[in-house]
Amino acid sequence: MSSSSAPLSPRGAAEEEGAARSDGATGGTVFSYGEAGYWDARYVEEGGAPYDWYQRYAALRPFVRRFVPPASRLLMIGCGSALMSEDMVADGYREIINIDISSVLIELMRKKYFDLPQLQYMQLDVRDMSKFPDESFDCAIDKGTLDSLMCGVEAPLSAAQMVLEVDRLLKPGGVFMLITYGDPSARIPHLNQPVCNWEIVLYILPRPGFKGNARRSVFDPVPLTENGRLPDGYTPEDPDSHYIYVCKKVHGLQG
Ligand SMILES: C[S@@+](CC[C@H](N)C(=O)[O-])C[C@H]1O[C@@H](n2cnc3c(N)ncnc32)[C@H](O)[C@@H]1O
Repeated sequence: MSSSSAPLSPRGAAEEEGAARSDGATGGTVFSYGEAGYWDARYVEEGGAPYDWYQRYAALRPFVRRFVPPASRLLMIGCGSALMSEDMVADGYREIINIDISSVLIELMRKKYFDLPQLQYMQLDVRDMSKFPDESFDCAIDKGTLDSLMCGVEAPLSAAQMVLEVDRLLKPGGVFMLITYGDPSARIPHLNQPVCNWEIVLYILPRPGFKGNARRSVFDPVPLTENGRLPDGYTPEDPDSHYIYVCKKVHGLQG
């Protein structure tokens, strides 16, 4: 499967749905995408069948190869059952530490990849990665996990915790690649935490299978305004596009 049919739908609908579900408005036991219980139940049901949200590695490869050298020590945030890490190893990446909040998923992935030493799996909440020392990664990739947190209760707090942890773990000059359905008005405010100083380059990729006419190359960065928004009048050809924020940790300065 190349992209989800579902719950983390674009343009905030799922964020609203997630928040409502967390209030227990429907009664009974309902989980939201921001909660470990939801994901554990989902992975028990799916039994670890591979599933890549939004985009497959083949589509992301040009961006990943441009910004992440194969020798990087890489953190895959909220890895899920995606084939992304496996595909990256096949493409020459040597050290990928995959974390996910779901213990069910981590067990399944450990069994699946026991003979692939380039991949490690750890059950960890991205909001508290104190297990890792400061500046211990060259790169971090998130595809869909910040989006999940945005569906949970106290979403802005969770997002801030996550971004601050990623910033702490990256070496100066390191890269955080965020792949999300959130446009700059919904994501830049969370990326720009007070102690972070990111140099952000934005790319916009239509969802897989989009049939519209491309007015521009997806490999051209989309400029951001001074306050971190899309340029006036700019609308992506595909309204359900995915946004790739390449955030470089700039050394020594504070934003
Ligand atoms: C939308 S899925 C994306 C999975 C995978 N990255 C992909 O591209 O297919 C979100 C993943 O984030 C994980 N997750 C949710 N909240 C998390 C948290 N606080 N810490 C770590 N992982 C989390 C979920 O268990 C799930 O596997």
